[in-house]
Amino acid sequence: MTRKTLNIGLIGSGFMGQAHADAFHRAGLLYRDLPLQPVLHTLADATAELAASAAARFGFAHSTGNWRTMLADPEIDVIDITTPNAMHFDMALEAIEAGKHVYCEKPLTVTLEDARRLRDAASARGVKTMVAFNNIKTPAALLAKKLIDRGDIGRLTRFRGWFDQGFFNDPEMPWSWRCSREQAGSGSLGDLGSHVVSVAQYLMGGVESVVGQEQTFFEARPAQGRGSGYGAAADASGARLKVENEDQFQALVSFTNGAGGIIESSRIAAGKVFGIYWEISGTEGTIVMDGERFNELKIARYSEPKHDRGFKTLLAGSQVEQFNGFFGFDFAGGGLGYFDVKVIEVHDLIHGIAGQERCFPDFAFGYENQRIIAAMEQSVAQRSRVTLGE
Ligand SMILES: NC(=O)c1ccc[n+]([C@@H]2O[C@H](COP(=O)([O-])OP(=O)(O)OC[C@H]3O[C@@H](n4cnc5c(N)ncnc54)[C@H](O)[C@@H]3O)[C@@H](O)[C@H]2O)c1
Repeated sequence: MTRKTLNIGLIGSGFMGQAHADAFHRAGLLYRDLPLQPVLHTLADATAELAASAAARFGFAHSTGNWRTMLADPEIDVIDITTPNAMHFDMALEAIEAGKHVYCEKPLTVTLEDARRLRDAASARGVKTMVAFNNIKTPAALLAKKLIDRGDIGRLTRFRGWFDQGFFNDPEMPWSWRCSREQAGSGSLGDLGSHVVSVAQYLMGGVESVVGQEQTFFEARPAQGRGSGYGAAADASGARLKVENEDQFQALVSFTNGAGGIIESSRIAAGKVFGIYWEISGTEGTIVMDGERFNELKIARYSEPKHDRGFKTLLAGSQVEQFNGFFGFDFAGGGLGYFDVKVIEVHDLIHGIAGQERCFPDFAFGYENQRIIAAMEQSVAQRSRVTLGE
């Protein structure tokens, strides 16, 4: 039986644009239960040339150098936004107003007010939305949620989580939009910390108050020469540009369920590559996830007889439904990779669009993520604890 189609209009063909295009291809191929077949309809980039060459490479039928033309195209069902942070707002708002479903990279926006406007606009227009917090789509995170909901670790008492990467520890890594307040907002906090905040939201629930501090060690960077994104090289002229946001951030967090914790981020952690780590303790046990081994969870359960207690390794696999597209039988430990998690995200997006419920995580979740980040930044500015309120 042929499925109905879902036409995708992708904006951006950088690191994430490529990952999303790959995910739509493979979700359509791997998941037999997918209610709609994703079709790579149109790709938009900053220029017609960039868009045409990426469209040919990724397998899109059409391309454009002006993303707005996709909004007027009645054939397009979903606008997928993979541009730098500051562009998300206009693109998402206009897509919502045009009645399109919107899939948007994180963080949702640069400012909290813009995130609120997007959340409200999507709700008023009745379109489905999803923010690409892929660290809550790993089989390990999905499994941790099941274990916590089943009560395996009892009442939650503490969350510790950080996302450390080392790419900006290289002083010759050129300036990019990630260093600009206007284009990115905060530095490592919005770029990396927002993922940890998403895990805390998913597994711990709401945040009551925060205390933050931040540091910047690389005050200026060489201007960008050839290449783009993480692969860009420095401009040979020797020009240097000011870094406007923080290299690393630390926050103390109080959750609404009474638990305490810390959330940290760094883009200059020498030696760290995909250093997302989180650990959740409860009255009956502890769960640990290390992103450089992200197919695994460590769990210690107090419910076990005393002589059997201690940390055990769980291989995250077909305990979670989304894993079954990859291995259609009972399996784990074969290991999924970073880009496979985007396939899971797209699976959830398409089920969300086809179903009666909202997609998860939607723009309301993205707004809440932004609210927590804004409170952390406000705490730095006023050098005191900030309570989030209702
Ligand atoms: N979820 C994740 O794990 C993850 C990882 C990396 C980046 N991101 C997010 O993805 C987004 C993009 O990051 P990236 O690393 O892919 O950036 P990138 O610089 O590699 O790609 C950005 C793309 O946007 C295009 N673009 C710029 N201006 C445009 C315009 N006016 N119209 C259309 N396209 C335009 C660029 O040409 C490029 O193709 C950011 O919001 C970032 O925070 C998420």
